[in-house]
Amino acid sequence: MKFTLRVFKSIDELEEEDASLLASAKRALKNAYAPYSNFKVAAAVLMADGKVVTGTNQENAAFPVGICAEGTALSAVSSLYPDTAIRKIAITVKSGANLADRPVAPCGICRQRILEYEMRFNAGIAIVMMGEVGEVYAVNSVKDLLPLHFSKTDL
Ligand code: THU
Repeated sequence: MKFTLRVFKSIDELEEEDASLLASAKRALKNAYAPYSNFKVAAAVLMADGKVVTGTNQENAAFPVGICAEGTALSAVSSLYPDTAIRKIAITVKSGANLADRPVAPCGICRQRILEYEMRFNAGIAIVMMGEVGEVYAVNSVKDLLPLHFSKTDL
């Protein structure tokens, strides 16, 4: 098994599609509802037909009820366009506490959610991650972030 992470010095080094998807995610940050953590997260999903759908974290006074940006985006995509595969997801953050100067990777639950989508359409989903500034990380599949995953093939 081989896991590959590509590291870019900045958004300027990215190919146009990745830079543009990250820009969509950055624009969506304003829609995050994160009054409890003050940590805004946005995900921009690029569909196989070129559509872009964004999602942001949506928190709740009952903390575990909150939903991650990736979960919001995937639920929206699956509800609106259930027959369309996802090609790529860009994830970015804005922290109220300090400048996020490194990429943030999806939490474990969201990695599993992305894996389900990959398995459903039998196609890898590239993930591009960036903080507010600094390096960008990219993988071609969530399997690079979730080694020894559990999926429907194990059932
Ligand atoms: N969060 C996300 O939206 N995505 C992740 O992958 C990690 C964490 C959110 C959840 C919560 O609203 C805030 O970040 C702080 O944990």
